[in-house]
Amino acid sequence: MAPAAPIVSALPFTGPFLLAPMEGVTEPCFRDLVLSLHRPEELGGAFTEFARVVDRPLPRRTLAEHLGARRHPMPVGLQLMGSDTDALARTAERAVAAGAPLVDLNFGCPSKGALAGCAGSALLDDPPRVEALVRAVVDAVPTTPVSAKIRAGGQDDRLLEDLARAVEAGGAQLLTVHCRTRAEAYRDTADWGRLERAVAVVSIPVCGNGGVAVHGDLRRLLERTGCRFAMVGRAALGDPWIFSGHEASGAESARFLLDYAAALRGQRGASPRAVAGRVKQLLAHWTAGDLVGGDRRSWLTETDPERLLGRLGAVAAE
Ligand SMILES: Cc1cc2nc3c(=O)[nH]c(=O)nc-3n(C[C@H](O)[C@H](O)[C@H](O)COP(=O)(O)O)c2cc1C
Repeated sequence: MAPAAPIVSALPFTGPFLLAPMEGVTEPCFRDLVLSLHRPEELGGAFTEFARVVDRPLPRRTLAEHLGARRHPMPVGLQLMGSDTDALARTAERAVAAGAPLVDLNFGCPSKGALAGCAGSALLDDPPRVEALVRAVVDAVPTTPVSAKIRAGGQDDRLLEDLARAVEAGGAQLLTVHCRTRAEAYRDTADWGRLERAVAVVSIPVCGNGGVAVHGDLRRLLERTGCRFAMVGRAALGDPWIFSGHEASGAESARFLLDYAAALRGQRGASPRAVAGRVKQLLAHWTAGDLVGGDRRSWLTETDPERLLGRLGAVAAE
């Protein structure tokens, strides 16, 4: 008898717009707040920041921490980054045991740590290796969807089509393309033509990422590129309502930031200074409402955590 074909569930997303994985930002506190602002059809899902796998599987506890305790109607994919095939595959099994509805593989991180460990965007120069890693993870979690997030290339975009095909050949159910190359890092312009190129060579759904600045860009990206999903990174840090297009007021903005601070304070060992630093990280990007306006500098140079929160409290009460 032929071996039973693996049963892979359909993609679990509840809509076409997704919150990008962002290290140091899309941990449970921020993610829970953004997810709770939206209906499932407005924001279809989110991702954890990457969990770095070196040469042994990560403990299930660490993976559960990435996923967070709260469950939403929208799924949160657990992103793994590594290049040790066995450690990655075993970690994926544990991720599923910890409750991950989808496992995502990171082939885009440009950090020195990732490059030194030949992980993340280091693998963009080696499509066969990308394929092998995807396949190992797909085989390890046959009943859970696996996705892979690539950049358009390393130094240039010449391997884009090969990379997209490698992800599909490895058995992934979704390909996310951040349309900048590693060399382009996070520069302002984003070439959506590269998303079209990826869509043209694979039959799995493609999620386009890069350069979404306002709500209207989400639909524009889908229409122009043929992508089935659109992912937002930095613009969601400045406007967490970007997925619905709700135009938040200054008071709503301040309340979001206060709720974020309260959630962070509930974490073990979070000092007031660290909490204020995280709030300021969002203020550096903030575009929603009339909270920041031309006054960004005064928010970012506020050194006293109590004064920062007090100032937000005053706006929230308006
Ligand atoms: C602070 C920060 C952290 C990031 N961390 C990750 C990460 O953990 N995994 C990942 O795949 N991409 C990561 N990225 C990249 C984003 O997911 C996204 O691909 C990139 O920001 C481009 O989208 P944007 O133009 O909408 O910002 C990060 C980006 C930022 C700004």
